[in-house]
Amino acid sequence: MLLASDLISTPAFVYIEKIIQKKLHNIRKIQDCNILYPLKTCALADVLRLMAPLNNGFSVSSLFEAMLAKDIAKKNNVIHITTPGLRPDEIENISELCDYISFNSISQWKLYHSKLKSEIKQGLRINPQLSFVKDDRYNPCRKQSKLGIPLTELLHELNDISSIKNISGFLFHTNCESTDFNDLLETVKHIEAYLPSALKKISWINLGGGYLFDESENAEVLTETISLLKSRYELDIFIEPGNGTIRDAGYIVSSVIDLFKSDNRVIAVLDTTVNHMPEVFMYQYKPDIVGESCNGKYKYILAGASCLAGDIFGEYKFNQPLKIGNRIIFKSMGAYTLVKANMFNGINLPSIYAYTLERELVLKRRFTYDDFISRCVVKKNVVKRKKVCNSCS
Ligand SMILES: Cc1ncc(COP(=O)(O)O)c(C=O)c1O
Repeated sequence: MLLASDLISTPAFVYIEKIIQKKLHNIRKIQDCNILYPLKTCALADVLRLMAPLNNGFSVSSLFEAMLAKDIAKKNNVIHITTPGLRPDEIENISELCDYISFNSISQWKLYHSKLKSEIKQGLRINPQLSFVKDDRYNPCRKQSKLGIPLTELLHELNDISSIKNISGFLFHTNCESTDFNDLLETVKHIEAYLPSALKKISWINLGGGYLFDESENAEVLTETISLLKSRYELDIFIEPGNGTIRDAGYIVSSVIDLFKSDNRVIAVLDTTVNHMPEVFMYQYKPDIVGESCNGKYKYILAGASCLAGDIFGEYKFNQPLKIGNRIIFKSMGAYTLVKANMFNGINLPSIYAYTLERELVLKRRFTYDDFISRCVVKKNVVKRKKVCNSCS
């Protein structure tokens, strides 16, 4: 199998271009809808370059993401931004780089709306106050949420959207890895019930991300939601699927570097760590791996290489005993992995490989000691060193 190939030096992040392309082709089949890719999910420049011609643009959450998106955007791509973190020293540059901005609060709009270039389309991020996500850490509609203007507050502020100058659109993002588009339809109907006249006055709406398109059993409900918004309000519609585009295209490939017994269990230490996939630790979920077998005879606790006691992926069963050097391949790691990965303990980041459309395995980046010290506020020339391994540059 390709991912077990000796050509890959571990730990590695491998993404498969064909999968990204296929996902985007499927998403593009949705009629009357503009597709944006959110950089927060995986911001590798070559991944963005692959996507640029296949979608309508990018969505970003910061100045740096906006700069990267602008560098890569094709002529017809648009750039949307929404963030609770707008800053006075960045607003001018953000305004230059972006085509759409959705203010996260009325206060933010008051601070910045007059500082933007005239061509930028201004909108508001709404919090529909309708929760679908059980874990509050993922739930933008949680109580006292910092994400968007609660509908009840917005109603209080304005009975008429025209009292807020230059607002031409709304954005909401309320779900996470959902496969049920009824959540989206319900949200749109809920907003409609609160703000019927406002919807008539705007010209665009961004429905955010949060849905796994391929796994959905009711894609027709998405079509129904879009045609409702089109037929009643003639809105330009945007969606920004992150997980839905890239999650299944990425793998973390690691190797077993030690095996030993601890309290009647065998621990298999890997050359990766939860710090390469921080959501595994943050949300305490057990990632899927290639080749695990629920009836397997050989049971191991797969553990990361850091000093953190809880740097553990979980207990897994296999049909064959593990040996030092065996590959362990984590599935569905394309989203929110590299963008959150860190070098805790000085453990190097995974090397980045692409399996290209031409079926070639291409090493895109191998991180080195220089990448480590560049964030340790150490002047490079102060540290004299000899080349001792491949990770040294
Ligand atoms: C505003 C916004 N849009 C899109 C996304 C992408 O969501 P997902 O990766 O779940 O599709 C997020 C994720 O946090 C978001 O905050």
